[in-house]
Amino acid sequence: MGVGILGLGHYLPERVVTNKEFEKMVDTTDEWIRTRSGIEERRFARDDEETSDMAYEAAKLALEDANVSPEEIDMIIVATVTQDMPFPSVAAMLQERLGAKRAAAMDLAAACAGFMYGMITAKQFIETKAYEKILVVGADKLSKILDFTDRNTCVLLSDGAGAAVMGEVSEGRGILSFELGADGSGGKHLNLNEKGYVAMNGREVFKFAVRQMPQSTINVIEKAGLMKEDVDFLVPHQANIRIMEAARQRLGISEDKMAKTIHKYGNNSAASIPIALSEAVKEGKIKDDDILVLVGFGGGLTWGAVALKWGK
Ligand code: UT7
Repeated sequence: MGVGILGLGHYLPERVVTNKEFEKMVDTTDEWIRTRSGIEERRFARDDEETSDMAYEAAKLALEDANVSPEEIDMIIVATVTQDMPFPSVAAMLQERLGAKRAAAMDLAAACAGFMYGMITAKQFIETKAYEKILVVGADKLSKILDFTDRNTCVLLSDGAGAAVMGEVSEGRGILSFELGADGSGGKHLNLNEKGYVAMNGREVFKFAVRQMPQSTINVIEKAGLMKEDVDFLVPHQANIRIMEAARQRLGISEDKMAKTIHKYGNNSAASIPIALSEAVKEGKIKDDDILVLVGFGGGLTWGAVALKWGK
């Protein structure tokens, strides 16, 4: 048997915030944001809409899509760095709201690479047959930790949630290989400052990401015994179109074979990969037995990638 994705769901807050709106807040332009990052607009949650609310909406859709009831879920893992509060965890809140009576619940912090860490954690429990079905959610409300006087960060980051129900899939399908990594020495380049806001040295994170994302992509392909040419679809973390393009070009695949949501949703951290994957599947861009690579990086610094064969 393989371990893979049984269903997906995603949620984006209603409020659309355009680049133009930032021109009134900080010294920036729509043109700068578009050309340097690829972002045209993003979504921000309402003040009373928390990470757990977005996670709940995405999780409900993923369960429906998987045709799995909340009672069948053995464990809930929520990747987030913007919990509603330090505890209880977002995962425990979901356990209650979904009525996932049998589920263990925990949050996991690996910033924008969190969903990759969540998927791989879930895979271990399923493979060892300790658990059968695990709900993995990537959800973040970065707008609540943004400094709206800092043009280096506030124009880039956003809110959202994506979820996957993971479980057994048929032999040959599911996760074929993975890579997870961290380099704590780079933590200083992307972290929460003493005021409680995201602080980033964009240039340093950029240099790390254009190196790491293409490299992790190649590493998981090789670990799976595949060639670059075998990859049908790439789902990169949506941080900057120029970083995503570096991974795509290293693979040598065409633009339509890469998930792209950055222009409309911005960088919503742990939510970006599951949202981009969920949308691509719903839009019919991915079919059974396609070879996919999901790849992310983030604060920590952290990174993670998986190669997988799509289908149940
Ligand atoms: O999920 C992971 C999170 N983070 C990332 O992935 C971010 C990775 N880094 C990036 O995406 C890019 O480095 C940025 C988009 C942040 C910046 O693009 P860049 O082409 O690397 O620009 P830069 O760092 O070389 O900065 C160029 C200039 C700087 O001015 P000085 O120091 O050269 O005078 C910045 O202060 O652009 C300035 N700048 C801005 N200008 C207008 C920074 N932010 C803005 C802004 N509007 N919003």
